[in-house]
Amino acid sequence: MQDKEKNKQETVLTGITTTGTPHLGNYVGAIRPAIAASQQEHDVNAYYFLADYHALIKCQDSAKVHESTREIAATWLALGLNTDNVVFYRQSDVPEIPQLTWFLNCVAAKGLMNRAHAYKDSVQKNQEAGEDNDFGITMGLFSYPVLMAADILMFNGTKVPVGRDQIQHIEMARDIAQRFNHIYGQHFALPEAVVDDHVAVLQGLDGRKMSKSYGNTIPLFQPVKKLKKHINKIKTNLLEPGEPKNPDDSTVFQVWRAFATKEQTAYMRKEFENGIAWGEAKKQLFELINEELREPRERYNELMENPEHIEKVLREGAEKARSYSAPFMEKLNKAVGLYSLA
Ligand code: TRP
Repeated sequence: MQDKEKNKQETVLTGITTTGTPHLGNYVGAIRPAIAASQQEHDVNAYYFLADYHALIKCQDSAKVHESTREIAATWLALGLNTDNVVFYRQSDVPEIPQLTWFLNCVAAKGLMNRAHAYKDSVQKNQEAGEDNDFGITMGLFSYPVLMAADILMFNGTKVPVGRDQIQHIEMARDIAQRFNHIYGQHFALPEAVVDDHVAVLQGLDGRKMSKSYGNTIPLFQPVKKLKKHINKIKTNLLEPGEPKNPDDSTVFQVWRAFATKEQTAYMRKEFENGIAWGEAKKQLFELINEELREPRERYNELMENPEHIEKVLREGAEKARSYSAPFMEKLNKAVGLYSLA
C-alpha cells in the first residue's frame, strides 16, 4: 500500500455525516457514483470516511448516532465499495484528527468562522424568532469548519467531492492551511472542492428535491412491502388511465429515469404518451428499483445482523488511515514545538 501510494499525486477525500438513514436521493446523487469510482483502479489515493464527530454537532441522541453509523457503513459495503482501492474508516477511530483540529483552532481566525453559512443561518433564524443571537448555537456548530479542515488536511486531501453547500468549507480549509503553512512551514497541500454539476438530483414523494429536511424521502433499504408503499405515495395528478401524461413534469418518470437504461427511459416515455395508468407506472417503477436493490438489500440485512464484520472492515480502514496520520502528526507536533525534552 505504501509503495502503491508513492506514485499517486492527488488524494480524493470525502466524509459522510452519520446522521439519518440513507435514502434513494443519497444513493443516486452521491453513493452510487462514489462506489462506481471505487470499483476502478485510479491514479489517485482515495479516502472515504464516516464523519461521526460531525454527527455530534447535529444529533445528541446517542442511540441514533450509533445506529446511523452502523446503517451507513453497512450501506456502503452492501453496495460494493471496494475497500482495496479506498481507505474507508470512521473519523473517531483516528485520534490524530481531533489533535490536528486543536492546532488548526489555534491558527484559524474567529472572523473567518463568523462568516460560515451554517452558523450565519442559525444566527439569522434566532433574529427572526426574536431570540438572542447565540441561542442554541454550540461551539461545535461554530467551529465545525475547523474540524472539517482537519479531516481534509490530515490526509493532504487535494480533491474534495462535495455538494454546493460545502464549497465554502473547503475554501476555509485552504485558508486555514495557508495560515498554518505560513507560520510553521510547508506542511499541507491546499484542497480544492470538486462539485459535479451533472450529479443527479432526485425528486421526493412531494415532487421537491428528496431531502430528509422535507420529510419526503424513500429509504434505500427497507422491506419490499414498505418500498412498494413508499413508491405508491409519490404524488401524481388526476389524469385517468388512457389519458396522455407528461413525463417531464412527473416525479414517477423522474425517479424512473434515475434507475433506467436509455431504452427503458424511452419505453416509459412512450407509455406516458399512451396514457399508462398511474398505478401501473408505479408498479413498474417499483419493479425497476427493486431489481437494482434486491441483492444489495440482502447483503445489507446480513451486514446489519453481523456488525462484527462491519467493525472489522472499519478497523482495517482505520489502521491504513493511521499509517499515514500518525507519522504525519508526529511531524506536526514537532513543527509547533510539542516534543520530548530529552
Ligand atoms: N460536512 C460534510 C457534509 O455535511 C461532511 C464532511 C465532514 C466532509 N468532513 C468532511 C466532506 C471532509 C468532505 C471532506 O456533507
